[in-house]
Amino acid sequence: MQDQLTLPETNDRVTLFTALMPQIRELLREERDQIAALANVAAALHQTFGWHWVGFYRVMGAELVLGPFQGPIACTRIGFGRGVCGTAWQEERTIIVPDVSKFPGHIACSSASRSEIVVPIRDSDGRIAAVLDIDSTQEADFSIVDGHALEQLCELLEPLF
Ligand code: SME
Repeated sequence: MQDQLTLPETNDRVTLFTALMPQIRELLREERDQIAALANVAAALHQTFGWHWVGFYRVMGAELVLGPFQGPIACTRIGFGRGVCGTAWQEERTIIVPDVSKFPGHIACSSASRSEIVVPIRDSDGRIAAVLDIDSTQEADFSIVDGHALEQLCELLEPLF
């Protein structure tokens, strides 16, 4: 396996996503263990985009439980319908929060977070099995373009669940 990502020198997210996706596919082709694969996907996103926090919460019974991530320590358990993550799980859709201080019930794991995106991940039966959560220190850092790209990435992760 190659030990580093090959990335173009640009800040353009579409260009970066386009370069990253085949490398994520390769990571997943080489490693089917869920924790190992999710850990490298979190690292790849963190390294590529420099976001404050990138990680996974997995559905365990009635809660989301912290999985592999990159960034500061985070809350470990989130209830169904709680916070941005629990709401994305409940509503089974991607949620983009331009200003976390205006999201009712937002769970502040880090005071540096200003905006957030959460993308649900389904298992092979179509049930929500996990969420990808990304926090940025910049307000309104996530657009629908990021949402669509991250949804495509999360579809690649379905066979892990
Ligand atoms: N802000 C999230 C909690 C998880 S942390 O951001 C890592 C939420 O409201 O669900």
